[in-house]
Amino acid sequence: MQNELNFVGRCLYDLNDYTAEEIYAILEASKVMKEINKRDYKKLPTLKGKTICTLFFENSTRTLMSFELAADRLSADIVRFASNGSSLAKGESLQDTVYTINAMGIDLYVIRHNLPGSPQLVHKHTGKPVLNAGDGHHAHPTQALLDIFSIWEKLGSLDGLKITLVGDIAHSRVVRSNLIGMRKLGAEVTVCGPKTLMPSQMSEVYGCKVEYDLKTALKDADVVMGLRMQLERQSEGLFPSLEEYSKLFTLSKETMKYAKKDALVLHPGPMNRGIEILPEIADSSRSVILEQVTNGVAVRMALLFLMLGGRM
Ligand code: NCD
Repeated sequence: MQNELNFVGRCLYDLNDYTAEEIYAILEASKVMKEINKRDYKKLPTLKGKTICTLFFENSTRTLMSFELAADRLSADIVRFASNGSSLAKGESLQDTVYTINAMGIDLYVIRHNLPGSPQLVHKHTGKPVLNAGDGHHAHPTQALLDIFSIWEKLGSLDGLKITLVGDIAHSRVVRSNLIGMRKLGAEVTVCGPKTLMPSQMSEVYGCKVEYDLKTALKDADVVMGLRMQLERQSEGLFPSLEEYSKLFTLSKETMKYAKKDALVLHPGPMNRGIEILPEIADSSRSVILEQVTNGVAVRMALLFLMLGGRM
């Protein structure tokens, strides 16, 4: 496998930085990585001698673990910066922290931070490729790539597919990155959720449809993605109660009847079972939720490989 398109040294802040052709190249590379991950012996020597730093300032289970596993599978060295227990707690600025870490000889950074634009800041102070693992409500491009990979792998193409994203649209970085990527690959995307959790001008900015009624939004959908109801925001009074929310927006056998019979169901996790999705759908044969997690390792291996100029 060669890097025919030039990914080496580039950053991934969001999917608008990449063309449809480049997204397809990432999907193809991910497919190769997924095959490698099925082997008994999964490790490749391709990034031996490279050092990757994961900078996580927000909680994470699957994103952090899958980046670290991906780096490990490609034989890179990994150092993890955890913000609690570090000198940040002693008052060191983010900029000084980044300078300090960079002086240890890092080749690529993966960052999750609640500040939109923090990946750009790390690149500015280090000159190294940076992968955005979630910056505030703004973007989460590797999650979108693994979601898109999961659909592409099952259905062959996104061109002309009807995809419905349901939930807290206002606070979801996953939705924003997916909208950019899915629209680039030709999908027709509908977003659905309570009015209070729907930003204005979604259709103008992202070229998607906006629906407030779940049954209308699900009509003839090929793919449905549930989103986490951000329970930490309940105190902000953006929706009356969880009971009310789930009565109107939960993905259940009853509501999924409106989508196509074999529509795929995705969820980026973590899930609130019984709120945005019922177990009868989350654990059904149409759900690819656990496969999304498996695919996340392959997609992140592909990105590290491409951006660090790996060769096979
Ligand atoms: C998402 C995130 O952190 O943005 N989770 C993830 O990375 N799989 C979604 C969420 O927290 O709701």
